[in-house]
Amino acid sequence: MTEVIYLKNNDLSENNIELFGTIADAIRGKGFSINFNALPTDLGESLWLHMKNMNLEKYSPAGVGRKNKYILNAFIRSDEICWINGDSEAGKAWLEWMKALQLYLNSRLFLGLFSFESHFAHYAPGAFYKKHVDAFKGESNRVLSIVLYLNPGWLPDDGGELILHLDEKEKVRVTPNFGTLVAFLSEEFSHEVLSTKRDRYSIAGWFRVNGSTLDKVDPPR
Ligand code: OGA
Ligand code: MN
Repeated sequence: MTEVIYLKNNDLSENNIELFGTIADAIRGKGFSINFNALPTDLGESLWLHMKNMNLEKYSPAGVGRKNKYILNAFIRSDEICWINGDSEAGKAWLEWMKALQLYLNSRLFLGLFSFESHFAHYAPGAFYKKHVDAFKGESNRVLSIVLYLNPGWLPDDGGELILHLDEKEKVRVTPNFGTLVAFLSEEFSHEVLSTKRDRYSIAGWFRVNGSTLDKVDPPR
C-alpha cells in the first residue's frame, strides 16, 4: 500500500496567500486595499522590537522630491525617516515579505513590479504630512504604495490618521493601529497624515517599475 503524506503549508504561508489574494482583488477592483491584523505574528513582533529599540538618532528629517530636487520642507511633512536596507533581521524579514507580495502581485495583476524601497517613519507629537501624491504620472516609477502601522492600542483621540482621498468628495480614514497594512496605486490617490498627538510609527514603501534605459540607470530611490 502506498502511504500518502499530505504536506501542509505552515500557517504563515497560508495566511500570506489569503492576504495577498485579498490585496490583489482590492487593487484590481478599486485601486487600494486596507487590511487589519495583516502581519504574520513573528514579523510583527520582530518589527515592533526593532522599532522600539532603534535609536531615534538613526532617523533623519524626511524630505520631499528626488535627487537634486530633494528639499526639506517642514511645512509639507515633519516626520523623520530611516531607510530599510536589510541590515537588521527585522528589516530583512520585512523586505522578504514584501518580495513575496511583489511576486504574487506580478503573477496576478501583471503590474511588472521591479523593485521595492521603504523606510521606517516616526512622527513625533505634532508631526503631519500634508496632502500629496507619491508619484506624478510619467515622472516617477513608483506604482504601488505600501504603508504598515506599528502602534498598538491607537485611540480615536490620538490623531495621526491617514486620509486617502478617493476623489474630490470621498475619503477613507485609516487609524494607524498595529498591523494595519495599506496598499494603493501611487499615482491615483492623494493622501495625507493628520497631525498626531502620540509618537506614531510606521513603515512606508513603494514598488517601482524599471525605468532604466540604455544610457540611464534608474536610481533605487
Ligand atoms: C508617505 C505617506 C502615510 C502614512 O510616507 O508618503 O504618505 O500614513 N505615509 O504614514
Ligand atoms: Mn505618501
